[in-house]
Amino acid sequence: MADRIEPTGAVRTVGPRDVIFSTTDGRGVITSANQGFARIAAHPWSALVGAPHNIIRHPQMPAGAFKLMWDTLQAGQPFSAYVQNLAGDGAAYWVFATVTPLGDGYLSVRIAPGVDAFWSAAAGAYADVLVAERQARAEGLGGVAVAEVGCERLAARIGQLGFADAEEFMHTVMPAEVLAMAGRRQPVDPAEQADGPVGVVLSTCVAVDREVAGLMERLDGLHRLAEQLQHVERDALAAVAALSEVTELAQHASATVSQTAPVLLSTAGAMSTLGDEVGGMLAELAPELAAARRAVLRVRFRIALARLHVDAVVDAAREIDRGSVQLGPEHLAQLCTSLRDDLAGAREDLEDGAAVLRRVGLGLELAHVRLRRTDRFLATWRVQVPRYQVSRQLAPYVSPIDGRLRMSHEQLAALRDLAERCAAEAEPFDDAPLRALVDRVAAAAGGLSLSGVPPLSTAGGLP
Ligand SMILES: Cc1cc2nc3c(=O)[nH]c(=O)nc-3n(C[C@H](O)[C@H](O)[C@H](O)COP(=O)(O)O)c2cc1C
Repeated sequence: MADRIEPTGAVRTVGPRDVIFSTTDGRGVITSANQGFARIAAHPWSALVGAPHNIIRHPQMPAGAFKLMWDTLQAGQPFSAYVQNLAGDGAAYWVFATVTPLGDGYLSVRIAPGVDAFWSAAAGAYADVLVAERQARAEGLGGVAVAEVGCERLAARIGQLGFADAEEFMHTVMPAEVLAMAGRRQPVDPAEQADGPVGVVLSTCVAVDREVAGLMERLDGLHRLAEQLQHVERDALAAVAALSEVTELAQHASATVSQTAPVLLSTAGAMSTLGDEVGGMLAELAPELAAARRAVLRVRFRIALARLHVDAVVDAAREIDRGSVQLGPEHLAQLCTSLRDDLAGAREDLEDGAAVLRRVGLGLELAHVRLRRTDRFLATWRVQVPRYQVSRQLAPYVSPIDGRLRMSHEQLAALRDLAERCAAEAEPFDDAPLRALVDRVAAAAGGLSLSGVPPLSTAGGLP
């Protein structure tokens, strides 16, 4: 940057319903931006287009965050983060940004941060990473090495927040931010009419909005499933340990009365074999549960991405309708390409995720059957204790066994419930109506002749 802008300490906030976007080439040079971007960044549009995106870099943003961004993008994956930017007049402003590959370059769509817990966690992490980076620089490390130090520190902070990695953080935070935005935004008004292709875009966006709302309804179910998968994964190994403790205890107790009640020992032996089998199954299932959870979070992320990009399409259409000299139909068409990519990505991710979910569902079903059988043996063993009149001798042992039997019902119900939910969420969604609508928006945006485009009523759930 030729003239370095210094932060003045002024802080600007992004409007709760604002959608700020820009596109860049493969190196991060700005190729287009909406008016919202130029306004908040306080740079004339002409100074923005053709400038590297670090034109709005804030000195308090750690280099590690941008390294993580570029590494993720270069791996072909979308990236989301809270970013503090520096406007041309020295004011700082925070955004929640989502950057996706688009053609040979990238698209970034930003909204106001709306989930305070995540935002403050990110800001706290950045402050800490910045300290590590300054120290590394003071020790004589160069820019690349400093960014690496920052990136590592950032990963450590994300871990401390309870996330497995940066991807899990993004896949959790982004849908939460988009849901918060969805609560603030106003749906596209069917009465909002314009002439020509832009009119078609806006009226079709009403229908797109409705279809995406249908998809968004899946977010809650997917979130609940992700949480349940995490709980069962966490509890599964503890349950295995508890089960083997109890079966060992029953065996040990049975051995002490093998003369008077030999049948107890054979029941305990059978139970222990079954228990070991269940233990093995649950232990093998644990990484699968984690994989299923990651897949579920990925699908949620893709759906939220589609929601975000619809907002960008609507904003661009409105701006073009107002006679923008900066944005044209080609930009709208580009945004529609992003939206199509999101839908294709969501479908693909759901297909991959569905395979994992079905596998996990079957595994859980099997574990459920075996565990129930083990618990039946345990219940039989428990009934045999008074029947063979060894209650007094075995009194010190039975209390943990009774505890296990009391928990059994709950644990079995949790396994069964999760198996059912996995099967339910593995159902594919029908995105054909939505794709048809996006094609219609793209066709209108491209100023293409609308002849041959199916009438609205057949394109799927249109007004
Ligand atoms: C699509 C896209 C959007 C970007 N948006 C921002 C942004 O809003 N703020 C920012 O500081 N950097 C943004 N960047 C990253 C910059 O290109 C750059 O990597 C970053 O500012 C660090 O720059 P520096 O290390 O050269 O100072 C964006 C990059 C891309 C590809």
